[in-house]
Amino acid sequence: MTAQRWLITGASGQLGSHVVRQLAAEDRDITILALARRPDVGTIGVTVQQVELDDMDALYAAVTGFKPTHVIHLAAMTAVGDCHRQPAVAERVNIEATRVLAVAAAGARFVFSSTDMVFDGEAAPYREADPPRPLSHYGRTKAAAEQALADIPNTLVVRIPLMYGFPCSQRQTTFVQQIAALRAGQPLRLFSDEYRTPVWLADAARALIGLARSDLTGLIHVSGPERLSRYELIARCADLLGLPPRHLVAISRLDIAAAEPRPADLSLDGRRLAGAFPQLVPGPLRAEALVGEPYT
Ligand SMILES: NC(=O)c1ccc[n+]([C@@H]2O[C@H](COP(=O)([O-])OP(=O)(O)OC[C@H]3O[C@@H](n4cnc5c(N)ncnc54)[C@H](OP(=O)(O)O)[C@@H]3O)[C@@H](O)[C@H]2O)c1
Repeated sequence: MTAQRWLITGASGQLGSHVVRQLAAEDRDITILALARRPDVGTIGVTVQQVELDDMDALYAAVTGFKPTHVIHLAAMTAVGDCHRQPAVAERVNIEATRVLAVAAAGARFVFSSTDMVFDGEAAPYREADPPRPLSHYGRTKAAAEQALADIPNTLVVRIPLMYGFPCSQRQTTFVQQIAALRAGQPLRLFSDEYRTPVWLADAARALIGLARSDLTGLIHVSGPERLSRYELIARCADLLGLPPRHLVAISRLDIAAAEPRPADLSLDGRRLAGAFPQLVPGPLRAEALVGEPYT
């Protein structure tokens, strides 16, 4: 059997750091190459190659040089505001780099992380067959990247909802800042009318690795089991941490001026995953997800 060679892009990101951590901890003989812009992937001993996704030649060379058997492509321009302000960069990084990666990795198993933000939030819960209708440029780039992969064999698009938990890398995320604010007793303003089906980072990573090992192609939703507003998510975290929720302020997404409309309800329907891979279904919000990941 060919030795497995796993290429993980976006390895310094919140999800990538968990994917790398879980793969590195496996008791199997696999070679991992972590592609990242910053070298901090949170797990010592993993080979990291720094690549800028905007540099298509460097990206192509990194992939063809490594000759992966498996690719989990997580790198993306993920901040909705950045994508709106720099639309051309977002298109290169999120669409063109995805296509270049998939072509360079031809023959490998290819798993791409897409998002619930390909939908408009008006007809949740969303199944895989529902037509995308993104409201943001970020969502449009991810939907276009899905399309760019449509004809590439052995490829799976995995749509992921809002994620919570602590990265294994030092990455500062909104969730990390929210938990710090909770602990410090600082006021937190959170939307009580914007719904998602959130997933713990470690559960999302486990699902992606398991799906990469399967031969499923096409599209699948990885959904958390509960529909929660952003306010409810953090209030539940406060409860699990034994912190008083008195500094939480519920606000409406309609009260905040935004360059692009915010979808009301992006809940994903996870029945396809539950039917085909019940062992990969994410669990509910639990205390385990609220413990910072030690740097190892
Ligand atoms: N966050 C969510 O709740 C969520 C929900 C649904 C789907 N997703 C999707 O899941 C994937 C991972 O998301 P995440 O939350 O882990 O993202 P993240 O924490 O923002 O990490 C993004 C990763 O992409 C890398 N990256 C960004 N721009 C790059 C560039 N120009 N060149 C090279 N690397 C670049 C970052 O490198 P640096 O760290 O060095 O900048 C980082 O490793 C993305 O594809 C995202 O669209 C995320």
